[in-house]
Amino acid sequence: QLTCKIGPSILNADLSNLHEESVRLLADGADYLHLDVMDGHFVPNMTFGHPVVKCLRAKIPDVFFETHMMVSNPEQWITPMADAKVNQYTFHFEATENVPLVCRKIREAGMKVGLGIKPKTPVDVLEKYIDLADMILIMTVEPGFGGQSFMYDMMPKVKWLRSNYPELNIEVDGGVGPETIHPCAEAGANMIVSGTAVIKSKDPKQVMEDMRETVEK
Ligand code: DX5
Ligand code: ZN
Repeated sequence: QLTCKIGPSILNADLSNLHEESVRLLADGADYLHLDVMDGHFVPNMTFGHPVVKCLRAKIPDVFFETHMMVSNPEQWITPMADAKVNQYTFHFEATENVPLVCRKIREAGMKVGLGIKPKTPVDVLEKYIDLADMILIMTVEPGFGGQSFMYDMMPKVKWLRSNYPELNIEVDGGVGPETIHPCAEAGANMIVSGTAVIKSKDPKQVMEDMRETVEK
């Protein structure tokens, strides 16, 4: 039986206070941290890279870090992120010609493999790679920015994955919050990324509790 995990995205947090913001989210019940890494090439935005992640890890030694690599060359950052003690390295199908090679290198570096697709990418392209990944990420916004509207028409992708792979970890990411968690739960997602809905709420603890309850019931 898969449990629901909530992994807030700190993209829209006060990045000058990344450590304090992260500690607060964890105290409010976050199960893991979803760290959005953007290179300004794969997506038209930039955030931070392994130097920042390494510093954050030095202050938060024992929490599951997932780096969401919105980068054009996912191979290039595997070693630096492993050195930063990242637990799961999630890269995009669209960013490489050789998904199996990237998956293998991530594993060899001692990290779990996350494989994600953008909204315009059909889910069946993943069929031959599912057994190479520990988790599949279904983007429910066009990657690059927080605070966008949830794309309900991505739910058939989650349903297709859940019906074919009952034990697979399936993450949804983008525009997810209390108003949009129901379709994610019904479709079968068990790893929930939420940025703005949690970060900008008056009661992040309540928001995360509500979402977890909805998925688990
Ligand atoms: C978008 C990022 C998402 C985003 C989630 O490119 O991958 O993780 O920050 O934030 P919200 O929940 O505000 O869409
Ligand atoms: Zn993300």
